[in-house]
Amino acid sequence: MTHPLDIAPESLVRIAADIAVQAGELIVTLRDRGVSVAASKSSAVDVVTEADREAERLIVSELRAARPDDGILGEEGTGIDGTSAVTWVIDPIDGTVNYLYDIPAFAVSIAATVRDETAYADGRRSIAGAVFNPRTGELFDAWEGGGARLNGSPIAGSGKSDLATALVGTGFGYTAERRSEQAEMVSRLLPLARDIRRIGSAALDLCNLATGRLDAYYELGLQPWDYAAGALIAEEAGAAIIGRDDTTRPGTPFVFAGAPAIVEELRSVVLGA
Ligand code: IPD
Repeated sequence: MTHPLDIAPESLVRIAADIAVQAGELIVTLRDRGVSVAASKSSAVDVVTEADREAERLIVSELRAARPDDGILGEEGTGIDGTSAVTWVIDPIDGTVNYLYDIPAFAVSIAATVRDETAYADGRRSIAGAVFNPRTGELFDAWEGGGARLNGSPIAGSGKSDLATALVGTGFGYTAERRSEQAEMVSRLLPLARDIRRIGSAALDLCNLATGRLDAYYELGLQPWDYAAGALIAEEAGAAIIGRDDTTRPGTPFVFAGAPAIVEELRSVVLGA
């Protein structure tokens, strides 16, 4: 059964942003004390730190206090079924390897989603989202139909019309098999674009697209917590987001995002289609 939305998306974005800033402050405090790897996931280089876990606990407890009936899906294992229309999709630290090395490109990502089988591949649609980079103090946010903002000021994508002069972000997964596939894709694209960037946080890649710091972005193998907030922010800033082909919704396995005039060409090049 689907429940009606009991709150305006603008109010959800305020909740997401407040909690993302709190969690961001926590992770930099913990990072400045030193970082410890708590476990590895899909491979030895796919790590989870104690800070990922502590930040997820903080986000979950704050969301539960603000919105006790909502569901929550978290990268570090939270899976709470709610009774309202809203499910929060959260990544306590997107860019964990950057966090490990203290490269200032990691972020807290929090999205409010609703069920929608026609939207992303996981059957959800984001209606509000916030991404906070605590090292730079940049807070990106958007709600459905409300545009996208960086620290409160409206942002827009580049509107690039030519792949040959486009700066394209991408990312790589953590397993050797996945990386071999991704290496083939990148080798098809590199001769045909301005250049590529591998910044190390899908959430920030999508926000960079929203500000025009990238013209396009794609990745194979993202999970909903990697893109749920960033994809809404990019879309609200004017980006188009598509999946592997015209009948496949974006999400897992593929997100192709970018200025509307170049995103289909980007997909054809990357897939060798
Ligand atoms: C990763 C980052 C990275 C992307 C990987 C993601 P994590 O998330 O977003 O940029 O290339 O696919 O798994 O592990 O840092 O939360």
